[in-house]
Amino acid sequence: MCGIVAYIGPREAYPVILKGLKRLEYRGYDSSGVALLNGDLNVYKKKGKVAELEEMLVGKDVHSHIGIGHTRWATHGEPNDRNAHPHISGSGKLAMIHNGIIENYAQLKQDLLRKGYTFKSDTDTEVLLNFIEDIKENNNCPLEEAVRIALKRIVGAYVIVLIDQEHPDTLITARKGSPLVIGIGKNEHFLASDASPIIEYTKEVVYVNDYELAIIKADELILKNLGNERQTPFITKLDMELAAIEKGGYEHFMLKEIFEQPQTIQDCLRGRLDANGGTITMSGVSKYAEQIMNANRIVMVACGTSWHAGLVAEYIFEELCRINVEVEYASEFRYRNPVINQGDVIIAISQSGETADTLVAIENAKSKGAIIMGVVNVVGSSIARISDTGAYTHAGPEIGVASTKAFTAQLAVLTMIALKIGYEKGTISHDRYLQLVRELDAIPEKVATVLLQADNIRKLAEKYKDATNCLYLGRGYNFPVALEGALKLKEISYIHAEGYPAAEMKHGPIALVDENLPVVFIATKDAYHEKVVSNMQEIKARKGQVIAIINEGDEFTPTLADDVIVVPEADEIVAPMLNCIPLQLLAYYIGVAKNFDVDKPRNLAKSVTVE
Ligand code: M6R
Repeated sequence: MCGIVAYIGPREAYPVILKGLKRLEYRGYDSSGVALLNGDLNVYKKKGKVAELEEMLVGKDVHSHIGIGHTRWATHGEPNDRNAHPHISGSGKLAMIHNGIIENYAQLKQDLLRKGYTFKSDTDTEVLLNFIEDIKENNNCPLEEAVRIALKRIVGAYVIVLIDQEHPDTLITARKGSPLVIGIGKNEHFLASDASPIIEYTKEVVYVNDYELAIIKADELILKNLGNERQTPFITKLDMELAAIEKGGYEHFMLKEIFEQPQTIQDCLRGRLDANGGTITMSGVSKYAEQIMNANRIVMVACGTSWHAGLVAEYIFEELCRINVEVEYASEFRYRNPVINQGDVIIAISQSGETADTLVAIENAKSKGAIIMGVVNVVGSSIARISDTGAYTHAGPEIGVASTKAFTAQLAVLTMIALKIGYEKGTISHDRYLQLVRELDAIPEKVATVLLQADNIRKLAEKYKDATNCLYLGRGYNFPVALEGALKLKEISYIHAEGYPAAEMKHGPIALVDENLPVVFIATKDAYHEKVVSNMQEIKARKGQVIAIINEGDEFTPTLADDVIVVPEADEIVAPMLNCIPLQLLAYYIGVAKNFDVDKPRNLAKSVTVE
């Protein structure tokens, strides 16, 4: 989704902003632009990649010590130069960038049109900007006050950043619902949608809260609420290195992140899981252990890949904790009128911690008395902050749009929570608990073994890259893995793919099977293995092409499959962390073979901050 960057201070603003926009490219966008103040207000914007904007600006006057920059993911109005941000107000003196959606923009636009305003774009952003300018002029008030008044009448989500030609020493920004980080340097400030454009310059940051507005000069940061009361900025130290957001020799971030998984799962377990002592230490879980153990139900709320992690967790929690679990798409849950009882536990799963639907879903549930536990990757993100408690996944920055290492880290965290609760509740035996602790501990090394298959999987990708449809089938813990494999393929290779419970295939999808349809089976050894193998025979009987993920030592399944990928054996509860890896690699190599931009697939955004 849209990315924002702004700078004020002694450096040249343009290079800082340009680099920042490139760091935010992973979020997904279709146009970009900058506004730079240096006496004149210069605004440059262009459809396409940031590199195209950069090329357009060669030889142009970009000298300035204050500026704002934006990558736009189109919502209102098609992606083109005109609709790109920054937008300029009617007077030509204000420029603004915006991430979010102004829901009541149509009404505001009508009012402004009646007053004689004209619009150069189709965006809600230009409407908000002119609304602010109109208030400023009618009330003859400072910009800060006009922004405050305007925002009280806005319905929707926003981060906005404004510069004013008449006040070239000040940036004004405000936030509700969309992410905003302010980096504090020495007599300089950096603003961005996340920490990646800032980390190079400073580790001291302030996460702006909803309904806060900041007036920022090079050497001053004033934070206020919309009631005009001063707030004390809470400075946090970033726990992230620059190397974590660079490719480190890999061709793509996605490949780097797939290969990081032995390490990221280890990081996630470190300090929590002690296989020798047989303990799991999670302070965020301990604090609410009683409430979780006694909860009538747990509701997992998430979107996309995080939702798939929730589905795996449903199986694990029900098995180990004997608690009723429901898994909800956040976008549906927030708009239904779900029955939420005091004491229900909601587990919100999110890599970015900024997914708008998940955020609003848990806000609603919290207001009805539910306990919110966040399983989030990005430290300091909105979902992490609104949660009552939680556990970070510690996977490090995930830049590739397709979620990979965040998924396995989510599984690791959720498994640890279930194990801890199940053990304390007494719904699993001591022996089973210790066995699973050891199984979990062994996962990073086993993931490293799966990664040794990369070259084999690359060859399979060549063989199957021209498929137009693909089925992914699994049962039990591997059904959500099938869904995740299909999602990865869709996202990265644009091949239509569906995940199904293997048995459900007979209720419809089997009609698709012919000699051209690749069917990926997750057929590792678990309670359902024989049934999955029977399903495989049904596909083979109809001439489908079978690719099977199997365990070492399985001699029979390969006789049914066209191709196999071998993964180490593991307990069925932890196996999804291994079985998803070949599917990530298969999607990645098919995307590369088809020459697609695997890190930034078309139409997708990394962090979906609009509903
Ligand atoms: O940041 P979140 O985990 O909340 O994001 C949820 C989905 O948008 C995300 O998992 C999406 O489906 C990914 N592109 C999947 O690869």
